[in-house]
Amino acid sequence: MANPLVRSTVQEILRKRVSLRQYAERPIKDEDKKAIIEAAMRAPTAGNMMMYSMIIVSDQDLKQRLSETCDHQPFIAKAPLVIVFFADLQRWFDYYNDSGVKEFCNDQGMDFTGPDEADLLLASSDALIAAQNTVISAEALGIGSCYIGDIMENYETHKELFNLSPYVFPISMLCYGYYSEGERPKPRERFDSQFIVSENKYNRLTEKEREAMFSHRAKGFNPQNSIGAKNIGQWIYARKTGADFSAEMARSVRIAMNHWRGESLVHHEGGIMCTKCL
Ligand SMILES: Cc1cc2nc3c(=O)[nH]c(=O)nc-3n(C[C@H](O)[C@H](O)[C@H](O)COP(=O)(O)O)c2cc1C
Repeated sequence: MANPLVRSTVQEILRKRVSLRQYAERPIKDEDKKAIIEAAMRAPTAGNMMMYSMIIVSDQDLKQRLSETCDHQPFIAKAPLVIVFFADLQRWFDYYNDSGVKEFCNDQGMDFTGPDEADLLLASSDALIAAQNTVISAEALGIGSCYIGDIMENYETHKELFNLSPYVFPISMLCYGYYSEGERPKPRERFDSQFIVSENKYNRLTEKEREAMFSHRAKGFNPQNSIGAKNIGQWIYARKTGADFSAEMARSVRIAMNHWRGESLVHHEGGIMCTKCL
């Protein structure tokens, strides 16, 4: 039976959560860190395969470096806890190698396929669901957090910094820290659910609906802005989708995909690898 107290507490946590970028200057207690990690371990995971890895960044120099490689966001270096989440097929393909799966497939007339784009999307889902579990667990402990999507940039640098194997892709990073005493930023507004949720069929919005959807954000638009944007759509495109960081992310992900998608798999002393990784 649903417990009304738990239900209202969870709803309250979800309602009050904000992305926190300024943290109380105290370390995360060990027991809280343990609870956060446990929350990740208990996340739903495709096929119960846990196709993700997490790296806790405790080295201050590494945090500093990440604050630069992730689109120059200084608060990363000040976060008491930083965890990077990776889509990870490496351990599965290493284990398949250990288990003679390729030979088995040959004998059985089955294809032996490498991790493909679908595996990457599934592993990314796994990693992000685990990440979000940590966000909610942290909130319940009075710890705020902020995702850093820019970890997808500069793939080559991050691969080296973390000593990444070929089938490991950094899909997101999270910074965590306690809320400062009495400090609770106001939750940010969302688009109305009528524009996001539909029933049974996809709802492509009409121009009128799009206008209604953006009307609130358009109110905050400054026509005297520094980049010559004439409306909120132009402004957001320039600041987000068309910004330099997005171009870098696109370049970086393309390289990582090539790396991931090696046409053929070969046996190598490090395990099964794509030809492009050798
Ligand atoms: C995938 C993802 C990537 C994000 N990347 C960043 C980031 O690099 N830097 C940052 O300050 N916030 C980042 N955020 C936080 C968003 O800016 C934030 O969730 C959004 O503005 C809504 O605010 P709220 O979380 O406080 O409701 C990211 C959020 C998500 C889900």
